[in-house]
Amino acid sequence: MLDLLNQIEQSALADLASVGDPDALEKWRISYLGGSGKVKTAWAGFKDVPKDQKAAVGARFKTLNAALDQALAAKKTQVESAAPKTTGPVIDMTEPALIRSWAVGRRHIISRVRDELVDVFARMGFDVADGPEIEDDEHNFIKLNIPADHPARDPADNFYIDDPRTTPKPRMLRSQTSTVQIRVMEKAVAGGWGKNPASDQPIKVVSPGRVYRPDTVDATHSFMFHQIEGLYIDRGVTMADLKTTLLSFARAYFGPDAEVRLRPSFFPFTEPSAEFDMKIRLRPDQPVRWMELGGCGMVDPAVFEACGIDPETWTGFAFGFGIERLAMGKYGIPDIRMLFENDLRFLQQL
Ligand code: DAH
Repeated sequence: MLDLLNQIEQSALADLASVGDPDALEKWRISYLGGSGKVKTAWAGFKDVPKDQKAAVGARFKTLNAALDQALAAKKTQVESAAPKTTGPVIDMTEPALIRSWAVGRRHIISRVRDELVDVFARMGFDVADGPEIEDDEHNFIKLNIPADHPARDPADNFYIDDPRTTPKPRMLRSQTSTVQIRVMEKAVAGGWGKNPASDQPIKVVSPGRVYRPDTVDATHSFMFHQIEGLYIDRGVTMADLKTTLLSFARAYFGPDAEVRLRPSFFPFTEPSAEFDMKIRLRPDQPVRWMELGGCGMVDPAVFEACGIDPETWTGFAFGFGIERLAMGKYGIPDIRMLFENDLRFLQQL
């Protein structure tokens, strides 16, 4: 019997050495320590052991059980740490904590530049006005003195919602924020503004927003972009006020080196009209350079009349420029598409 128990121990330990996963271990346990395993089977023969050997054999059973239990427990720890549990992630509680800050999102560069612009103009006394992106041709064209045969109204150059050839007052996605000038003036007049020049307060608004044009997309064109429009109406407003306003803006936004240049131009809603450039220094180590920004001029009397404002009493200036163009110039962004692709590798640099 003692020989048999020695054999069982030897073969058990030898078998156990080749066990590598929890399933094999369970099979091993059943075959040696299970209810009908080798140890139990051997135990069935204990009753036939001669009386004088019973104490020694009994003790041997004890040491055999203990040895196999101990070997089983050790193997169990080993296979469990080697084979990850399929029910969940293995968590190593001794691993040092990962000190990782959460990636906090931030607002898009166009939103930030828009708000910076609004802030600067607000400090100069401009309110913010809003207008719809779905407009009609009355606000996008007619009241802005853009006549029916003007090339800017070409269906191929605008996103019309209604067919402009068959629909009166066709709706469209606005192609410029100048529409908001008309909305602001109409609303003021509807509220009784303009009849008492001695007490009516000047109108002074900026209005940032999206505009839409079916341009072919390339590095400098997009079918949607942002403009900011300015409108100032008061008595005795001159071109000098316009230039002073643009210059104050340029210095407030770009720093004391900034300069403004007006170049004669034409827009149907201003007379005279100009395009304006700003001479800016983007970084202390860079030379100043001129950046073409947008259009401006003195509000055309025809526009005042279309909105029910007396052009003999009231004068005003207006301006409008592209926010993408300004942001691209300020941050050295070479391609307008980068602003709309939402590639985090780009956005996180700004
Ligand atoms: N709306 C013009 C454009 O989109 C820009 C512009 C020019 C706005 C002259 C104005 C202005 O207010 O006076 O090209």
